[in-house]
Amino acid sequence: MNPFFISTPIYYVNARPHLGHAYTTIVADSIYRMKKLGNDPAFFVTGTDEHGDKIVEAAQAHQQTPEEYVEKISKLFKDAWPWLEVAPDRFIRTTESQHKKCVQEILQRVYDNGDIYFGEYGGHYCFGCERFYTEKELVDGLCPDHQKKPDFIQEKNYFFRMTRYLEPLKKHILDNPDFIKPERYRNEVLGMLGDELNDLCISRPKTRLTWGIELPFDDQYVTYVWFDALINYITALQWPDGEGFKKYWPGAHHIVAKDILKPHAVFWPTMLMSAGIPLYQGLRVHGYWTVKETKMSKSLGNVIEPMSMVDKYGLAPFRYFLLREMQFGLDASFSEEALVGRLNADLANDLGNLTNRVLAMTHKYFKGVVPQISATQQEDEHTMELGYSCFKDYVELFEKFDFAKALARLWVFVSHLNKYVDQSAPWMLYKEGKNDRLQTVMYILLEGIRKIALHMWPVMPGTAEQMLEQVGSGFDLQEVDLHAEWSKWNGLVPGGLVAKKSNLFPRVDVTTDQEKKQATQSKPASTADDNKISTISFDDFKRMHIVTGKVLSAEKVKGADKLFQLEVEIGENQPRQIVAGLADFFAVSDLEGREVVVLANLEPKKIRGVQSQGMVLAVRHGKKMSLLKAEPGTKPGLKIS
Ligand code: MSP
Repeated sequence: MNPFFISTPIYYVNARPHLGHAYTTIVADSIYRMKKLGNDPAFFVTGTDEHGDKIVEAAQAHQQTPEEYVEKISKLFKDAWPWLEVAPDRFIRTTESQHKKCVQEILQRVYDNGDIYFGEYGGHYCFGCERFYTEKELVDGLCPDHQKKPDFIQEKNYFFRMTRYLEPLKKHILDNPDFIKPERYRNEVLGMLGDELNDLCISRPKTRLTWGIELPFDDQYVTYVWFDALINYITALQWPDGEGFKKYWPGAHHIVAKDILKPHAVFWPTMLMSAGIPLYQGLRVHGYWTVKETKMSKSLGNVIEPMSMVDKYGLAPFRYFLLREMQFGLDASFSEEALVGRLNADLANDLGNLTNRVLAMTHKYFKGVVPQISATQQEDEHTMELGYSCFKDYVELFEKFDFAKALARLWVFVSHLNKYVDQSAPWMLYKEGKNDRLQTVMYILLEGIRKIALHMWPVMPGTAEQMLEQVGSGFDLQEVDLHAEWSKWNGLVPGGLVAKKSNLFPRVDVTTDQEKKQATQSKPASTADDNKISTISFDDFKRMHIVTGKVLSAEKVKGADKLFQLEVEIGENQPRQIVAGLADFFAVSDLEGREVVVLANLEPKKIRGVQSQGMVLAVRHGKKMSLLKAEPGTKPGLKIS
């Protein structure tokens, strides 16, 4: 048992969550889930960084107090995570009183240790970065990050004797090759330590900034936001006496992007050394997502909103793409074309088709019942051996944060199973009445898909669970024995029922989308003519499948005030799930049991992450909404003609 702790940076609350935040947090969530799947106890922390100049500035720009503003934006982050199936154990905010206490206790310890002194300093201060720059760090006199000339600030402040710990830190990095990874960032830090580094200014006078944690030894000063923020990692574990701290801190790993390497690789470990706290175990540093090779920025208007991608392409493809596309440590370029490419090739073609084919054959040959395995042949043995090696490599690479390689390795097995179907040709075995052989081949395929789904759980939890259900298996995290899975080919219980089809990864037709885009682009600007009603043929009308229905249940879509998720009976085997913008007009009790009319062959669409399979027809008049319905008591499923 190796307790594992994983953290993301705590994000500044001066911007909405974007692709970059989503990536780091999804990575943290995935590795956390992988540890849990392997039965290691794991603890995952994310949160928001709420003090400092930047936040005050943003609050002022929105004509709000810092308190009001941080409350609002922090909630945006907290609420975004469940939508991305990110499930931290702790969402921490630096404005919590528990955190304030922790920061003051550390400051006092460091102070008592003689590592804090009062001094005067004049330097180039970038408000965007909230830090002083040395002449050498500036590029043409500008802040390298913000391309702005820093302000020259001279004031009396408290300083942390960071320089006292630079040699011990260097030694620690040299002695522990896994402390900072990938290698390029370890080298970068060793380079920094070779340069002249100064002591760290850790206070701001209240005359300039009050939005921060007061120093315990001088009430005229607040704590520098980075000194405050880094401590969140141990506040979250209830340092100093919490059980969580004792259990998880020895296995602590931080994930950050390259932008905040120095605070994590230099400030934080030296702070820990001074406070007499053991260092974290590992810092894992990734590169930056660019958009078509350009830095994402508000001013360029190219900021990618994770939710819009999820609405458009689904959550599982989005999470898969992020992990598969970026080589951890290097920059990667985000584009919808690349996402669609991966979705169609890896998910729809390789994994989706495989699952659909195997489910359909199980229904055709065995009425959907998982068959028994009997004597195996050489190609079966080969399949199982390859499975062993792919799954093992996948988990090992994943745990080394090499997600792209890990998934590529897993896909070697996905492709192999597709080939195995073709080579063992179940349709021929069926035709030739070779029932034992047919059962064995189909069992190996179903069990292979089950294992793939299980291993995909950290990447796409909800979809993996659906897939497991489709092949007649359940999912109980406590029951999974990941390592035993690799060598044993008997996890699936014969006799279970599999789904008729899968359809978890519908193809996205790029050309049609592009054509649609072109079509709308080439459309002339709206004219009065647009309001004219054009005639349609009777055939067009016949193509619309409008039917009577009955609402079985209604519940609010999480995080969307106006939307209801309805189950509507329309005379099919299963009720339809329909998302409708009715929540402003009706209560749940107005809808449940109500007769409605449904356009049933409208193209299915994911709305706020929920699949909608049709449209409930309604008429809006002023502030009211009326639902269309047939005569009371009309059966569901009758076509309007
Ligand atoms: N508040 C500090 C961190 C304090 S941690 C004790 C901060 N916040 S931030 O909101 O600016 O978040 C920076 C982090 O967001 C990066 O380190 C990275 O995890 C993520 N990303 C922001 N933009 C990114 C990209 N374009 N690409 C990848 N990740 C990026 O710094």
